[in-house]
Amino acid sequence: MYVSESININNIGHLTIGGCDTVELAAKYGTPLYVIDETGIRKNCRKFVNSIKEHYDGNGRVLYASKAFCCKEMCRIVESEDMGLDVVSGGELYTALSAGFPADRIYFHGNNKTPSELKEAITAGVGRIVVDNKEELDYICSLAGTMNRTAYVYLRIKPGIDAHTHKFIKTGQIDSKFGFALETGEAMEAVKLCFSTANVELVGLHCHIGSQIFDITPFAHAAEVMIKFLADIKKETGVELRELDLGGGFGIKYKLADRPEDFSAYMKKVADSVKSTAREYGIELPYILIEPGRGIVGAEGLTLYRVGSIKNIPDVRTYVSVDGGMGDNPRYILYQAEYEVVCANKADLTRTRTVTVAGKCCESGDLIQENTLLQEVEPGDLLAVLSTGAYCYSMASNYNRIPRPPVIMVKDGEPRIIVNRESYERLVEDDV
Ligand code: LLP
Repeated sequence: MYVSESININNIGHLTIGGCDTVELAAKYGTPLYVIDETGIRKNCRKFVNSIKEHYDGNGRVLYASKAFCCKEMCRIVESEDMGLDVVSGGELYTALSAGFPADRIYFHGNNKTPSELKEAITAGVGRIVVDNKEELDYICSLAGTMNRTAYVYLRIKPGIDAHTHKFIKTGQIDSKFGFALETGEAMEAVKLCFSTANVELVGLHCHIGSQIFDITPFAHAAEVMIKFLADIKKETGVELRELDLGGGFGIKYKLADRPEDFSAYMKKVADSVKSTAREYGIELPYILIEPGRGIVGAEGLTLYRVGSIKNIPDVRTYVSVDGGMGDNPRYILYQAEYEVVCANKADLTRTRTVTVAGKCCESGDLIQENTLLQEVEPGDLLAVLSTGAYCYSMASNYNRIPRPPVIMVKDGEPRIIVNRESYERLVEDDV
């Protein structure tokens, strides 16, 4: 109904997700509460996997970018969907391994992996390490040598594409902290360095142009640039690299007016670009990888809050304060991210009032949404903020020592806890 098929309104006017009444969920588990629908997540996984089958003969793999939402149960779901996993820290790697995720399907990213993270990755035997810079390459070479192992690597390339999205979440342009630049010759030097480096086997290239991107043209353009670079590598060194990871970044529906492209249309355009450029430059079709994070979980999750105080400041605005805020969702304060907010216990009523939904942190900028349409609400009502499945739980903090909310996974009307609510005891556990 709203932003995902999983979200509906039942016959008593309550918002539902995955067949569960959100009012009942809030009563059972308390608020704030993250709720995420397993059926929706699996459907999205299959859309991505099928798009590669349909448009690229299945010659590729979908990696879930775990930074969007990472916990053991999510890793188990991704594993059972036969996908790979993109991790970007020792913590995400540890979570995946703890969930029994096969190491050879893990791809390790990051622009400044620490020596201990690299050691953990090589010890675990991750499938690929995506090398970001020369210092890292040197370190991997010496580490793999000492450990008597071969590290299978990709190089992260900045394709020089400027995607149209918020400046904090675009990464493909030359002014980016991620990867090797093409224009300056840095990328080609890194390729040659890999070929002359012991214990490192360069198997492919990677790029990622940014996140929450609606226009699919820059993705196809990036694919073309990368294929041309594969052809240049062949010309200069005689080696044809066989794997190409094109990253993630597919936009999702946050506002009702958002119209993201269908995944299949995305893959068709990218596959066409890969095929035609490869033909033109005389190279074999590479095995391709894509790394959706938000596109898999974003629209399948929502956050429930209880309304506390309501402050009507005449001729200024009305603040509706809730029992969470920037600790469980820092995306408004960081990116002025837009959301739909719905009164979950009055979901069948029209949203007629313009209000600002504020959090409970000691910070004026702690807002969930400014000037948003909402039903007439009163203290005690339940608010649902939609499309919070990605980059909310994973970016949550304990600011003001507010415990992080639990995550409830729902499926066909059945809820289960997949992450417990943080306790006050946990908050002081590591204090000395
Ligand atoms: N691959 C790489 C190398 C990435 O850096 C990212 C996201 C992804 C894949 C997944 O992108 P997605 O499909 O989820 O857009 N915190 C920001 C988003 C940061 C994205 C960082 N990298 C937000 O809340 O919008």
